[in-house]
Amino acid sequence: MSPAYLGFQSEDYKICVVMVGLPARGKSLIAGKAMRYLAWVGIPAKVFNVGSYRRHATPQPAATFFDPHNEEGERMRRAAAEAAMTDMLQWFQDGKGVVAVLDATNSTKERRKWIYETCHKADIETLFVESICDDEDLIMNNILEVKTTSPDYKGQDPELAALDFRNRIRNYELVYQTIDDDEKSFTYVKLINVGSTVIINQIKDYLSSRLVYYIQNLHIKPRSIWLSRHGESEFNLSGKIGGDANISERGEAYARKLPELLRQSGVPENTKIVIWTSTLKRTIQTARHLKAETGYEKLEWKALDELDSGVCDGLTYEEIAEKYPEDFAARDEDKYNYRYRGGESYRDVVIRLEPIIMELERSENVIIVTHQAVLRCIYAYFMNVPQEQSPWMEVPLHTLIKLTPRAYGTEELRFKANIPAVSTWRGKGSSAKHQDFPAEGSEPASTAGTH
Ligand code: ADP
Ligand code: F6P
Ligand code: PEP
Repeated sequence: MSPAYLGFQSEDYKICVVMVGLPARGKSLIAGKAMRYLAWVGIPAKVFNVGSYRRHATPQPAATFFDPHNEEGERMRRAAAEAAMTDMLQWFQDGKGVVAVLDATNSTKERRKWIYETCHKADIETLFVESICDDEDLIMNNILEVKTTSPDYKGQDPELAALDFRNRIRNYELVYQTIDDDEKSFTYVKLINVGSTVIINQIKDYLSSRLVYYIQNLHIKPRSIWLSRHGESEFNLSGKIGGDANISERGEAYARKLPELLRQSGVPENTKIVIWTSTLKRTIQTARHLKAETGYEKLEWKALDELDSGVCDGLTYEEIAEKYPEDFAARDEDKYNYRYRGGESYRDVVIRLEPIIMELERSENVIIVTHQAVLRCIYAYFMNVPQEQSPWMEVPLHTLIKLTPRAYGTEELRFKANIPAVSTWRGKGSSAKHQDFPAEGSEPASTAGTH
């Protein structure tokens, strides 16, 4: 069966996203994020980074290696690009994927023509993504943030590394050609100064247009995204799933504590945060005090409503196991794809959350108060959690998760409210009732995902 996500059929369709631009223009970051987005919607994708091929033969080149008059350097760089291309073609031929990202500077017309023609011969569409940035301070910041710590400079003095990287860029500038009118027949998008101006040319298909829309929404302003489940609900207490119950007394205590918990998590001064809830009572009640105390704007999204459990809505796991034993077993077998009769699967939830993710990428600080399954899906996007794993993740009640995007990954902190609640987590094969979990210390746990 071929995946048909975002209304798109993958059979026989292949696309190569070709990054273009001088070094330190955010190309690898964009490539990594696009890949994470595609993996999340279920489209097999892979980044082929020419720099890592070049590193096999030349692990720590000095800036002179990139001098266009350096014939040996030119030869080795060409070989690295060819090796990446060969592996990419093989990957497509093996039927392993739909979208490949060729992550390199691809900064001359000649190089882009070669990529276009090679892909065209192999029936692979191309989408060129050029990142242009002339903000010197930002580029210096990028160099210090990501380049001095790259394997190219491992063990070297960061100041000398930054200086060398500037010289590397100068060498690239000698031959760099931006995509221009000669290349009008190509499908491309040009992002100028982090998407403050975007030029789009010849987008022909749906997947490219989704990708371009995603890429043009990305920004790099510092911000955080907070995720919380609603406070414990009456249904949680009785072990029932779904429904539209009120929050319990302990849930109300969490709702009252949420403004303080948010402050404790670290909110920079004068920061505006937008509150997003679902349309169900338990999330609206949980956000009530937060809204009243802070005056933050609040939006209610139907797309944030809990996974629809269809005919099982209002039942406990035990009752489902008894009434629908085959369904119960099938859900355990493949929890991500299992669709409740008359309801949804995790895969369905991801599809309806896609506009939420687009909006989150465009937004700055947001706190989302939602439900167990929906939170798992949003978390999985930011932390790059594989599909088969995400429905089983533990996301306890009365815990605030703070996600902060960094240059190479998302930083995670968890803040527990220390207000007891039942655990709604169920392990594979068990139909155990929801049980109380003890309140633990409020020390934040920290982890970082990739991109
Ligand atoms: P490249 O692959 O172009 O050499 P990187 O992706 O390694 O560059 O650079 C990452 C840095 O670029 C990060 O610090 C990130 O904040 C910044 N960045 C991300 N997007 C852009 C953009 N569109 N323009 C300029 N800088 C960007
Ligand atoms: O039990 C709380 C709840 O939000 C239910 O409403 C929902 O059906 C369930 O969690 C989703 O979790 P799981 O996919 O693990 O059953
Ligand atoms: C590199 O060698 O680090 C590299 C990215 O090469 P290219 O000039 O092909 O982008």
